[in-house]
Amino acid sequence: MNERPTMIEFQDVHKYYGDYHALRGINATIKAGEFFSLLGPSGCGKTTLLRTIAGFEEISSGAVLIDGKHMEGVPANQRPTNMVFQSYAIFPHLTVEENVGFGLRRERLAKDVLARRVGEALEMVGLKGYGARGAHALSGGQRQRVALARALILKPKVLLLDEPLSALDKKMREQMQVELIKLQRQVGITFILVTHDQEEALVMSDRIAVMFEGEIAQLADPETLYRRPNSRKVADFIGTMNFMPASVVSESGGRIEVDTQGFGRVEIDAAQAPGATTGNGTSIGFRPETLTVLFEGQVAADRECMATIEEVVYFGDMTYYDVRLDGMQTPVRISMRNVFGRPVLDIGTRTRVAWSPGALVLFR
Ligand SMILES: Nc1ncnc2c1ncn2[C@@H]1O[C@H](COP(=O)(O)OP(=O)(O)OP(=O)(O)O)[C@@H](O)[C@H]1O
Ligand SMILES: [Mg+2]
Repeated sequence: MNERPTMIEFQDVHKYYGDYHALRGINATIKAGEFFSLLGPSGCGKTTLLRTIAGFEEISSGAVLIDGKHMEGVPANQRPTNMVFQSYAIFPHLTVEENVGFGLRRERLAKDVLARRVGEALEMVGLKGYGARGAHALSGGQRQRVALARALILKPKVLLLDEPLSALDKKMREQMQVELIKLQRQVGITFILVTHDQEEALVMSDRIAVMFEGEIAQLADPETLYRRPNSRKVADFIGTMNFMPASVVSESGGRIEVDTQGFGRVEIDAAQAPGATTGNGTSIGFRPETLTVLFEGQVAADRECMATIEEVVYFGDMTYYDVRLDGMQTPVRISMRNVFGRPVLDIGTRTRVAWSPGALVLFR
């Protein structure tokens, strides 16, 4: 990823709406050809930031650069970007090919050239043969593909996608996620996706900026965000994280000794404390799948402790156990992949639980 040139650069970008401080010093670079996501809760500023790239929103201070050029004063229609909106803004009274060719109408292309370009764009989004159909006679997913084709036909350097899949049902959304990834690899354009769906961001992105209240809280690849979140807030927003009260005993040579409520004294690597001190108290975090309920005769690969099962949620392929580790006041969640022939344990069962110091994250 490092060898790719920079496509977008935010330099200390601030945006005020009247008194409201919507973007609070955004610094980030997005690389050419990257699938980049802006992820965060409603109102955190994702759409605002996307619109500053598109040129639909003037910034209050700082700078936005696209492909090395300052964008101040450059109107939206002269930027090498194109935007696809949440509510697929296609024209229902036009045909599919008229919709897709809409952006090219000013170029006054020869009929056969236009037809070829429209055909190529439709093929890219899996709508070959749909050109003559009225746009009103399409499913939600197909309409969104028309909107994509219409954006892609202009060959932008950057495609901006503001929650483009949120109006689709779950099945269609998952299918379109896979197709969008394939499409992005195929065309090689920089995609910037806005979503408040953490799974969607994890599945699709090369890198993700997690935003809260107008700021980027963490910018990293999906695995780093999931395994090494830099704050409890990021950890909580992405997937499920268990937290356990803890205190730091000593720190030296890249090792940190921590006293935990449920696992006792444990030594971890400094890389397992990726965040700055927030002053919100010290705790250890761990994901549900990093613990394992041990069945009779099973040996823990690493460490083990005793626990009581307090809740069982059966999902077919998975079972979630809420267990109270001996010495802890609140239960923690363990997710286990179900294996054919192995029973699901009942509430109240005493069990051994395997855990691993390497899977712990320290927040303080
Ligand atoms: N034109 C505007 N005038 C005043 N305030 C605005 C304007 N546009 C957005 N805001 C405010 O700025 C903040 C960020 O809005 P934005 O639309 O960027 O959020 P978002 O992260 O895209 O949220 P969502 O997930 O709900 O779409 C919100 O508090 C919003 O109310
Ligand atoms: Mg938005």
